[in-house]
Amino acid sequence: MAVKLPIKKSDLVEKKPQRVSVGGKNVFIVMIDGNVYAMDALCSHRGGPLENGALDGYNIKCPWHGAIYDVRTGKVSPSTPWGKGQAPYKVSVGASGELSIDF
Ligand code: FES
Repeated sequence: MAVKLPIKKSDLVEKKPQRVSVGGKNVFIVMIDGNVYAMDALCSHRGGPLENGALDGYNIKCPWHGAIYDVRTGKVSPSTPWGKGQAPYKVSVGASGELSIDF
């Protein structure tokens, strides 16, 4: 199901993650090299706020206990197996820059 986000692509700042709430979910969203990626915003370990983590390339590091996720896939790094992986969402960008994700 496609759900429209309350922000547009023009609201995003390159490599600056943010959280939006939509459809009862907390969604982590970030733009890297003009591409927009989204996944669950709450870390699968103990719910850390991933939008406050450090971004290194395509990897976001949870600010609480350091689990590392690839924002493109939601997969956790083998070096931080205490994270279980995040649900990634496919992002669509409309003609006017409106953003939607598929749950
Ligand atoms: S809550 Fe994210 S690594 Fe523990």
